[in-house]
Amino acid sequence: MDLFQKIAKLKKEKNAVILAHYYQDPDIQDIADFIGDSLELARAAQKSTADIILFAGVHFMAEGAKILNPSRKVILPDLRAGCSLSDSCSPEKFAAFKKANPNHFIISYINCSAAIKAMSDVICTSSNVVKIVERAPKDRPILFAPDRNLGRWASDKTGREMTLWQGSCMVHETFSDRKIIDLKVKHPHAKLISHPECEASILTMSDYIGSTSNLLKYVMESADQEFIVATEAGILHQMQKKAPHKLLIAAPPNQNCACNECPFMKLNTLEKIALALETEGPEIHVTNEVMIGAKKSLELMLEWSV
Ligand code: 13P
Ligand code: SF4
Repeated sequence: MDLFQKIAKLKKEKNAVILAHYYQDPDIQDIADFIGDSLELARAAQKSTADIILFAGVHFMAEGAKILNPSRKVILPDLRAGCSLSDSCSPEKFAAFKKANPNHFIISYINCSAAIKAMSDVICTSSNVVKIVERAPKDRPILFAPDRNLGRWASDKTGREMTLWQGSCMVHETFSDRKIIDLKVKHPHAKLISHPECEASILTMSDYIGSTSNLLKYVMESADQEFIVATEAGILHQMQKKAPHKLLIAAPPNQNCACNECPFMKLNTLEKIALALETEGPEIHVTNEVMIGAKKSLELMLEWSV
């Protein structure tokens, strides 16, 4: 039996569902029951009636699934699948900020730990950030954590001044302005489409900015035929599947490396997925105390983003 058959059999036997992010390897995207951006994945996890949710993504995503649907068993094929952005925001420093600034309304990007979510007023993703910032109380200063690029972009779009936590994503920071300009010269009809986690210099020259799902939608619906895509390269698999005749160019990183691939997302493999289904682990656990606060801020996000 090959791995694909083995995973299909285990999924059925265990009544498991596989939720995958667009940054996963193409094979993982192809075996997933649901693929989406962070908001869509959170909604899918909340609604799931499966006994086991296997999260083909990173730790904060699996933690979010557990918080939104605690009666399910949530498993992550490799517990080392973290996130540089989430790591840039330690609960100790965050708590210290909160203590020193008790009047701040705290909006945290979903790419953070459950402990940070529990200390936040509301969560956002890259697809609902503008809506969420617009709903924040007008009479309170805002702290936006942990992604400074997404925060700056949302602040420009809404006109709300915000204190920005100085975190960033190691993948989205890596794109080279110079190499992108060279590509634009070589492909004068190509549209530059970017994720809002990119640096301001990339966002300023972009034709369209959006979450992974919105970038995919843009490629599918636009009359344009050529795109330079500034986000993690895994999304190109769905773009190419949904728009097979369009030219998609992955935005190049500064170094001669594969730095436009997220090393955490890429820790998941078909072998680890099969093993995780077989052993029903590693399982994600969240303490009750953190669960209560994190559920509140995540559910407020879902309520504000309908
Ligand atoms: P979205 O899929 O919500 O755009 O998020 C991108 C990301 O960085 C996930 O880690
Ligand atoms: Fe974190 Fe960046 Fe990887 Fe997304 S792409 S999981 S933000 S390190």
